[in-house]
Amino acid sequence: MTDLNIIILAAGKGTRMRSDLPKVLHAIGGKPILHRVIEAARQLNPQKIIVVYGFGGEQVQQLTPGEDLEWVLQAEQLGTGHAVQQAVPLLGDNGSTLILLGDVPLVDVEACKQMLAQADQHLVVQTFIKDDPTGYGRIVRNADEQVLAIVEHKDASEAQRAIQEVNTGIMAMPNAQLKNWLSQISNHNAQKEYYLTDIIALSVREGRAVLPYVVTDGWSVTGINSKLDLHDIEREFQKRKGYALMTQGVTLLDANRIDIRGTLTCGRDVIIDVNCIFEGDVTLEDNVHIGPHCVIRQASIAKGTKVSAFTHIDDANIGAESSIGPFARLRPGTKLSEKTHIGNFVELKNAQVGIGSKVNHLSYVGDAEVGANVNVGAGVITCNYDGANKHKTIIEDDVFVGSDTQLVAPVTVGKGATIAAGSTITKNVPADTLTLCRAREQRSIQGWKRPQKVKK
Ligand code: UD1
Ligand code: MG
Repeated sequence: MTDLNIIILAAGKGTRMRSDLPKVLHAIGGKPILHRVIEAARQLNPQKIIVVYGFGGEQVQQLTPGEDLEWVLQAEQLGTGHAVQQAVPLLGDNGSTLILLGDVPLVDVEACKQMLAQADQHLVVQTFIKDDPTGYGRIVRNADEQVLAIVEHKDASEAQRAIQEVNTGIMAMPNAQLKNWLSQISNHNAQKEYYLTDIIALSVREGRAVLPYVVTDGWSVTGINSKLDLHDIEREFQKRKGYALMTQGVTLLDANRIDIRGTLTCGRDVIIDVNCIFEGDVTLEDNVHIGPHCVIRQASIAKGTKVSAFTHIDDANIGAESSIGPFARLRPGTKLSEKTHIGNFVELKNAQVGIGSKVNHLSYVGDAEVGANVNVGAGVITCNYDGANKHKTIIEDDVFVGSDTQLVAPVTVGKGATIAAGSTITKNVPADTLTLCRAREQRSIQGWKRPQKVKK
């Protein structure tokens, strides 16, 4: 393949989405539809990717990064042929062009490769047999099965409307011929539009055979026009992700109840329970088990770790053989070593926790360095914020922090120290001591009576 150009048509308004966001910026698998089409295009190693934009185009451009993209404005939507015409000045005379649709995110890259193998000589049109072809351009063939024309639904006769083979909208052709044909199309048709599909009959008229490429995967040609389409494609996309994971050996308790909005990389014998959402790049090493209803974003979880139900993990690294949750929240900057235990209603933020340490109940540990074999009791809070600045708490190895302790940062608790329950620690704690700081030591008053209800 020499000099391949790809034109992505994305100027449509997307009225049926009923949204202020341009249609092609709605997401499939956490990524805008158009970005998925661009990724597919990149897999074909083109020389140029030209995106034809229209309505809301500035926003589409701003939110679509890529040094390799060239943007062409189609100020008025006068038809698919007119849209491609806008990109013609960017096409060389040699090489070939592939036309993709900006709202068809599951485009079949392999099929495009096969089409391109013939597109330096011929116009190749991707077609699909549809049970209900209503609305689509019909592929008209002669008795020898050769393609003669594409007739749009609104222009088709009753007999033509019975044809079930439809134009998917994806086609490839030599540049020189494309330019020549586009200069000849008109808008004398039912929709008063410049139809790209008219180039088929023009090729046939010149005696150049048009090659059909019939695809069988309906999802690969399905465009998104409404929130219903968006939903259906999303579910298909997620089903494919789930099936790919199961094929690799991952156990999914229900492939219909998992959402992967990024890249999920799994080792051997990983088990994922229902209703989990994975975002960004997530790695689960061998024997990691994820309980139900977890949201895990941008994280790595090492071998043998169990994450229990309703845990939320965001931008964190978790060591091997650890136990997290249920109901734990690991916020950005959390780094847990091996064999750590983080229990229910514990929030960690920007905190490192050493080997074998435990924070098991109702704690907040933020901006902290926790050593190895530390036990952080129930309800311990690192008071890291003074209202203006954040300060650090250091808890050295083998420390025991009693329940309901407040560690007012900046503060360091020395190795092996014990802090009595209910202490408010404002000064550094020396190593290997028992430190207690309570308002008043416990007293017991003998013979004390509870107040009695006064009789009226
Ligand atoms: C088009 C095809 C039809 C095919 C169908 C497949 C033509 C004339 N018809 O019909 O044969 O079966 O797609 O879905 O090509 N676009 C622009 N600028 C425009 C018009 C459209 O960029 O002026 C873009 C749209 O954003 C969309 C694509 O081109 O991504 C297809 O346009 P659409 O209006 O949906 O074409 P159809 O009428 O469905
Ligand atoms: Mg349409």
